[in-house]
Amino acid sequence: MKIDILTLFPDMFSGVFNESILKKAIDLGKVEINLINFRDFTTDPHNKVDDTPYGGGAGMVLSCQPIFDCIKSIRTSESKVIMLTPSGIPYKQKMAYDLSHEKHLILLCGHYEGFDERITSICDMQVSIGDYVLTGGEVPAMVLVDSIVRLIPGVINERSHIEDSFNEHFLLDYPSYTKPQVYEGMEVPEILISGDHKKIDEYRYSESLRITKERRPDLLEK
Ligand code: 6GU
Repeated sequence: MKIDILTLFPDMFSGVFNESILKKAIDLGKVEINLINFRDFTTDPHNKVDDTPYGGGAGMVLSCQPIFDCIKSIRTSESKVIMLTPSGIPYKQKMAYDLSHEKHLILLCGHYEGFDERITSICDMQVSIGDYVLTGGEVPAMVLVDSIVRLIPGVINERSHIEDSFNEHFLLDYPSYTKPQVYEGMEVPEILISGDHKKIDEYRYSESLRITKERRPDLLEK
């Protein structure tokens, strides 16, 4: 998979992409990630990429020209262009699964300001990672990359992503324990050391259900 990230702040990504599983995925050639500064595409003599909003109001709005020219120069018939914006549709695990099958993703990050609405016409979808406002689309782009790349076959142990989500029937994880068996008086549940794998699976599933019911009843309504 190839992922192009369009951002005014490419340096924000280096820590996240140069450690752990994302680094491994890149080193294995499972994913190629390019950071593209769309300021490089502006035709403005002062390198401007934004301007004041028509109708007035606070803040600046990202202009069409640099972003259109940048996207047109890299998109092919196999590209999916995703705008990161708090007004997007909510990002969910199901979307991560679907996007993990794409050949080429183009992630468009704004910063501080909004986008000129006409930029949506060159995007395939607009995505938000939750109901809060961030300073820009960079952290959301990292969230998408992390959640999608770990699903590419061969990046992590296959069993773990079948277990951590039942696709649309997403449940919260069951509790896990490791050694020692007793820590400061707190014991590991007896059943986990019983060796009875059928019982252990049933226990874990019922714990997943219990925790989901308690913390995220909305996930069970579907
Ligand atoms: Cl995608 N962008 C920004 N700026 N804020 C957000 C977001 C995206 N998703 C949630 N908050």
